[in-house]
Amino acid sequence: MAISNIDISVIIPAYNAQNTINSTVMSVLLQKSINIEIIVINDGSVDNTKNILENLHNKYKQIQVFNMDLNMGPFYCRQFGVNQSSGKYILQLDADDSLRHQNVLYDLLTLTNDSPDIIHFWHQGVKINGNIIENISAWGNLNVKTANNSNMLRLLVQGQIHWLIHGKLIKRDTFVKAIHLLNDSRHLIYGDDEVLCIAIFSVASYYKGTAYVGYNFTQKEESVTGSKYSNINNIIKVIEDYFSARDLTQRFLTERLFTIRNSITQDQETNLENLIKFNDTLAITKVCQMYEERGLLTKSSKCDLYK
Ligand SMILES: *[C@@H]1O[C@H](CO)[C@@H](O)[C@H](O)[C@H]1NC(C)=O
Ligand SMILES: *[C@@H]1O[C@H](CO)[C@@H](O)[C@H](O)[C@H]1NC(C)=O
Ligand SMILES: *[C@@H]1O[C@H](CO)[C@@H](O)[C@H](O)[C@H]1NC(C)=O
Ligand SMILES: *[C@@H]1O[C@H](CO)[C@@H](O)[C@H](O)[C@H]1NC(C)=O
Ligand SMILES: *[C@@H]1O[C@H](CO)[C@@H](O)[C@H](O)[C@H]1NC(C)=O
Ligand SMILES: *[C@@H]1O[C@H](CO)[C@@H](O)[C@H](O)[C@H]1NC(C)=O
Ligand SMILES: *[C@@H]1O[C@H](CO)[C@@H](O)[C@H](O)[C@H]1NC(C)=O
Repeated sequence: MAISNIDISVIIPAYNAQNTINSTVMSVLLQKSINIEIIVINDGSVDNTKNILENLHNKYKQIQVFNMDLNMGPFYCRQFGVNQSSGKYILQLDADDSLRHQNVLYDLLTLTNDSPDIIHFWHQGVKINGNIIENISAWGNLNVKTANNSNMLRLLVQGQIHWLIHGKLIKRDTFVKAIHLLNDSRHLIYGDDEVLCIAIFSVASYYKGTAYVGYNFTQKEESVTGSKYSNINNIIKVIEDYFSARDLTQRFLTERLFTIRNSITQDQETNLENLIKFNDTLAITKVCQMYEERGLLTKSSKCDLYK
């Protein structure tokens, strides 16, 4: 990779995002005092997203657009975008989210002068459920200000550091190492944030958390009739993804548990072992219930494992 003066590469996977993509991209273009590139992956959209992006690309040279022939899902697109990028840091932004104001990226880079691998900032958002829009506050906590490779993966798996890939500036080198570790381009629907975060926290060595609120987040209500669960193939895929994510998680954490075992309490170890087993009983029970309630399949050996 040639030497680049790009500070931050912003990666935006976009699937049928015609109503939001312009303001998402503009919120990045308008960032002040910083060299950015914007990499948008049009993930097989069947609406007007492609045209809107073509127009933006023709107008602004910082925007690169890649069109996927098929819908590959965000897990694949985020990795694809990182492969195309050249910035010092990566920011993953969703096509219906935005940066809150024009100084967010500059402020974040100047807040921290010791070059962390991960700079975590905060989000505030709205939840959209049909016509009802309500303000939501940020999830997770802000207790962890710094962490290093002796404790950061543990803090992540204990939920002390939030799991979302959003709101994290991640050094490109670190992200590339994580992708290498993943060595897997399957397109997860379920668990993609978790898997990417675990891989990234497995290879990073210095984390910095800030209370800076810079990310506008849109949460859409995911109902049983929503896109993820609308047909049998998607339901099966969600379940399969769950198990793929679990297998990947197992692989990373099993290696890491050995190295941190001496520094954690019995309770923490139990939590971690549950996590290694990807024992998110609640989530899998919910998916299995939907799958059975709808009489789509009477038996699933994978779901039976969880009874
Ligand atoms: C995109 O957003 C910018 C800035 O908000 C606005 O000036 C422009 O008219 C928008 N373009 C379209 C096609 O909506
Ligand atoms: C990203 O690059 C790595 C290393 O070259 C490659 O193995 C992987 O398949 C690429 N992933 C995508 C989604 O392009
Ligand atoms: C982010 O959200 C805040 C408050 O909800 C709003 O004032 C601001 O305009 C939003 N920023 C963008 C770029 O949409
Ligand atoms: C959300 O909060 C902002 C200020 O924090 C306020 O202006 C806005 O009206 C609120 N919106 C809703 C839907 O409650
Ligand atoms: C890593 O963090 C731990 C816990 O805060 C601290 O005790 C240790 O000195 C740090 N190690 C390095 C190399 O900074
Ligand atoms: C990635 O996985 C494939 C098959 O699982 C294996 O053949 C290949 O050597 C792996 N590559 C790396 C870089 O680990
Ligand atoms: C999953 O965790 C729950 C609660 O901690 C525990 O009761 C259950 O035995 C665990 N299941 C597996 C398969 O480890």
